Amino acid sequence: MQEELKAILAGVRETVPNIQSRAEFESFKATISGPKGTLTNAMKGMGKVPKEDKPAIGKLINEAKTAINAEFETVLERLEAAEIAAKLGPAIDPTLPGPDLNRGALHPIAQVREEMVNLFRRIGFSVAEATEVETEHYCFDALNIPSDHPARDMQDSYYLPDALEVSNVSKHADEKYLLRTHTSTVQIRTMLQQQPPVRIVAPGRCFRRDTPDATHSANFHQIEGLYVDKHVTLLDLKATLDHFVKTIFGPKAKTRLRPSFFPFTEPSFEMDFYSPDLGKLSNKWLEIMGCGMVDPEVFKAVGIDPDSYTGYAFGMGIERIAMILQGVDDIRYYYQNDVRFLKQFA
Ligand code: DAH
Repeated sequence: MQEELKAILAGVRETVPNIQSRAEFESFKATISGPKGTLTNAMKGMGKVPKEDKPAIGKLINEAKTAINAEFETVLERLEAAEIAAKLGPAIDPTLPGPDLNRGALHPIAQVREEMVNLFRRIGFSVAEATEVETEHYCFDALNIPSDHPARDMQDSYYLPDALEVSNVSKHADEKYLLRTHTSTVQIRTMLQQQPPVRIVAPGRCFRRDTPDATHSANFHQIEGLYVDKHVTLLDLKATLDHFVKTIFGPKAKTRLRPSFFPFTEPSFEMDFYSPDLGKLSNKWLEIMGCGMVDPEVFKAVGIDPDSYTGYAFGMGIERIAMILQGVDDIRYYYQNDVRFLKQFA
């Protein structure tokens, strides 16, 4: 009996390290402790053992059982650990560098936006923002844009359905929501929140019903500027814009203001610039923004006294500046996300 038990235990110890799955384990275990298993058989042999030998043999059987169960436990622990490891996947070392060392870059439009915003920040402007969904009041009325102005036409702007509710933009019942057509809306929202002096730039996305072509996109970006204080004059506007143009396009660039019209400025101008170092575009006057002195009607709409305060405002398309700076001749390249294009600006 003793020999038989020893042989069973030795067999278990030999087989157990090779077991690779629970199924394999269960079928092997059955050959030992199942109803027809070798250990079960040995235990059945107890009946034939002489009475005086029973205590000693019983002890041997118990020892063998304990040893065999310990082996089985070890296998189960090993199988379980392997299952968990398989679920977790390969070990991760979070201190290793990322696999792609080719880091991303800002989009070319964002690069130009940052350059422009930082330039204005250095001369005391802060950055203001407002929503892209707007009401007719903020987009038009408060900016003195009359109701028969073409910009307000259904064909020129993206109006939103009447039933739409926009929780963070409130409107009057008889107004419509629309996607802002320019960043001039931020002038109004800022002046309603903040007493003069106000000195902000507002970069942001704008939307117009344009048929896309090389120079038009239904979605584009602008930067708005606004400076309101006592004694702000046209000279301040001219000096600030000169500084802007010379910083962005180089010290040889020249500027000029051409009389124009915007409902929210009086007088109003288009600003052109001219540079000898612009490749194909050198030595031509290029129009880059609208500007002027804030119209007293706009001050009245936001409750600022036009007899005490004056201000200037300007607004320009970021794509327009980017195209000149980056030598891009079709605005649509900016929105196609073709890496061959984008990589040139990384
Ligand atoms: N909002 C005008 C546009 O989208 C641009 C503009 C012109 C902005 C004159 C201004 C300004 O602040 O003074 O065409």
